[in-house]
Amino acid sequence: MGLTNLASFASLTLGVAAVSWDATPFNPASVPLAVRTPYLSAWLPQGAGTALNGAWPQFWTGSTLGWAGYVRVDNTTYTFMGAPTVAGAEAATQKSVEFTSTQSIFVMTAGPVDLTANFLSPVEPTDLVKQSTPFSYLSLSAVSTDGGSHSVSIYTDISAEWASGDDTQTVNWTSTTTGDILTHQVMLEDQQIYTEYSDHIQQGAVYYSTPNTVSATYQTGQDIVVRAQFIDNGLLANTLDTNFRAVSDDWPVFAYAHDLGTVSSTASAPLLFTVGLVRDPAIQYIIADDVYQDRSIYFWSAFSSVADLITSFMGDYFAALGRAQAFDAKVQSDASAISSDYAGIVALSVRQAFGALELTLSKSSDGSWNTTDILMFLKEISSDGNVNTVDVIMPAWPILLYTNPTLGKYLLLGLFEYQATGQYPNKWAVHDLGASYPKAIGHNDGNDEPMPLEECGNMLIMTLSYTQKSGDNSIISTYTDLLNQWTGYLVDEALIPANQISTDDFAGALANQTNLAIKGVVGIQAMSVISGMLGDTANEQNYSAIVASYVPQILAFATAADGLHLDLSYGNDSSWGLSYNMYADKLLGTNVFDSSVYDMQTAWYGTVVNPYGVPLDTRHTYTKTDWQMWTAAMMTNDTMRDIFISSVYKYAADGESSQPLGDWYETTDGSVEGFRARPVVGGHFALLAL
Ligand SMILES: *[C@@H]1O[C@H](CO)[C@@H](O)[C@H](O)[C@H]1NC(C)=O
Ligand SMILES: *[C@@H]1O[C@H](CO)[C@@H](O)[C@H](O)[C@H]1NC(C)=O
Ligand SMILES: *[C@@H]1O[C@H](CO)[C@@H](O)[C@H](O)[C@H]1NC(C)=O
Ligand SMILES: *[C@@H]1O[C@H](CO)[C@@H](O)[C@H](O)[C@H]1NC(C)=O
Ligand SMILES: *[C@@H]1O[C@H](CO)[C@@H](O)[C@H](O)[C@H]1NC(C)=O
Ligand SMILES: *[C@@H]1O[C@H](CO)[C@@H](O)[C@H](O)[C@H]1NC(C)=O
Ligand SMILES: *[C@@H]1O[C@H](CO)[C@@H](O)[C@H](O)[C@H]1NC(C)=O
Repeated sequence: MGLTNLASFASLTLGVAAVSWDATPFNPASVPLAVRTPYLSAWLPQGAGTALNGAWPQFWTGSTLGWAGYVRVDNTTYTFMGAPTVAGAEAATQKSVEFTSTQSIFVMTAGPVDLTANFLSPVEPTDLVKQSTPFSYLSLSAVSTDGGSHSVSIYTDISAEWASGDDTQTVNWTSTTTGDILTHQVMLEDQQIYTEYSDHIQQGAVYYSTPNTVSATYQTGQDIVVRAQFIDNGLLANTLDTNFRAVSDDWPVFAYAHDLGTVSSTASAPLLFTVGLVRDPAIQYIIADDVYQDRSIYFWSAFSSVADLITSFMGDYFAALGRAQAFDAKVQSDASAISSDYAGIVALSVRQAFGALELTLSKSSDGSWNTTDILMFLKEISSDGNVNTVDVIMPAWPILLYTNPTLGKYLLLGLFEYQATGQYPNKWAVHDLGASYPKAIGHNDGNDEPMPLEECGNMLIMTLSYTQKSGDNSIISTYTDLLNQWTGYLVDEALIPANQISTDDFAGALANQTNLAIKGVVGIQAMSVISGMLGDTANEQNYSAIVASYVPQILAFATAADGLHLDLSYGNDSSWGLSYNMYADKLLGTNVFDSSVYDMQTAWYGTVVNPYGVPLDTRHTYTKTDWQMWTAAMMTNDTMRDIFISSVYKYAADGESSQPLGDWYETTDGSVEGFRARPVVGGHFALLAL
């Protein structure tokens, strides 16, 4: 298996991708551009390094999202964004790229002018209207770098690829002016509610907007025609193509141009564009009696039209930028206290994690919004399209604790409400709320992916964690029966775990998995604590007595004869794995496991580090970024903690991948195994959630 020791780890910081521009904090596998929901998810693929004008932006799946940008300086036109091939434009040269938690900032040199492109995808954890707004900003600012003054105009467009996963489908469009805002709207003619095609939603409309400045011009039409119009003339024709057609039929694009006038060594005021994707209703959700409820995105509680939402979003830009800078600075400061590598990893993880989430509400019978009925939905993304997968919420949980634990409650509530209707037939906790986002229609047949120990433990751990952080007893007092039911399952099954899968289903089923037993006993202890909070002394004492009797048995089954590590499965001393579920014991302060167990695991991992990290377990040499960061957070030795962090950093910055950060990768060579853009990267906040 080729495990190495720490000596080979010395070269860790080498091997980072070399690019011709400054990359701060590093050049990631894919740069988030407009990432706010499972369906508004635009990235710039990188590999060893790709400039903003070196490739088309991509949806998280890798399909193209046309988003082109030109800047005309005096009489020369430069491409600064996307990969359009119309003659007459030169390529601007990328000078730098920087990402923070919420922003990706490129500086593109176009002759004697530098153009700064700031892609801001807000993360607003404590403002549900703003957090649920499915829009993102692009702001552009030009500055002269040669001491002279230059006339500058700017062009951008989007293609209809933003509105469909199927380029053969017909789209239609309108262009409108509302107050001082221009908006192009693009939508599929054949609207298909709650239906995906290649992970794109086939419902709703895309909105591309910009301020209606004195010099603004617009145009819709074939890509090469509209782009050539700008290259040749420096402005658009204010004409509309109304020949509605397929996305790929003479590729209709939706364009704006602005004349910035003369630009000197003082940077021009930011020129703003917003892009968003709105569908309504957004989520189908099962309530009692097998009834399906239509749910809408939460922002509708504050706006009656998309035009009003866009006006508000556009007008809020400078305030939103200020909040984003404050949020970015807090994450940077908190994470830097651990290490600069850690700060880079968590900054890259924020938009990816929040980009899987949608906040919703329902309507009362009189048609008004029911603002007390708030549920948040998560799309698992890429491993499959499940809704609110419990063992995907669990790894992501630390970022919710760090930013706003109440968001965690909104994710759990849908699971509790569904199981409290009695429609889910199994006695353990359900795996997810629906096989295919955005249909949260449950599993009344009980045939969800079976992870009984995993999900019972996860529900109990997250419920106590939320209650501790929030001081809100509402979940534990409303759903006490379900919590006791799942605890009973753990009492029956956690000591000798049957042959089953854990959340790491790709690694296969295994009997007697130590890590599942750990999750089980921590879950039982969590219910002891919850029972105490509810004044149920009998259950509190019963559950903690059971834990006290199980733990020594588990350690006896699971500790290798030489006392150097826990086994992956009981009695197999040549096996071991990341016992990341002990992190939950630390998070909850349950002290189920003695510090000597943490010390043993800490020392052990130092002996089995590969060039890109510690394998998930002895069955393979691959690992997970999220579980390594959970494990880092439970290390009793900062050297070992930092080895985990630096391993994830080295992989994230190694220039071997072009997909939104994959959490599953190979420890021998840093290559990605297959997952991408998943919200589990919220688990990188494990150290900050403690
Ligand atoms: C740009 O082209 C126009 C028309 O050909 C010409 O009048 C003008 O002087 C040119 N400007 C510069 C800065 O070259
Ligand atoms: C575009 O298609 C939608 C859905 O079929 C339809 O409701 C709308 O009226 C169409 N818009 C235009 C401008 O044709
Ligand atoms: C609003 O939602 C809450 C929570 O689901 C529910 O208890 C209440 O009955 C709803 N109110 C109305 C008027 O439908
Ligand atoms: C303790 O809890 C287990 C699991 O729910 C239950 O089977 C057992 O009867 C309980 N014992 C007591 C004394 O309450
Ligand atoms: C699981 O471990 C227990 C305790 O060591 C043992 O009795 C049992 O045979 C094991 N089960 C399997 C399937 O290996
Ligand atoms: C023990 O674990 C090793 C490493 O995971 C595995 O290769 C081996 O098959 C296991 N042995 C048994 C008896 O399960
Ligand atoms: C901390 O862990 C590292 C890596 O396993 C090891 O080399 C070092 O000796 C440990 N330090 C202490 C104080 O245990």
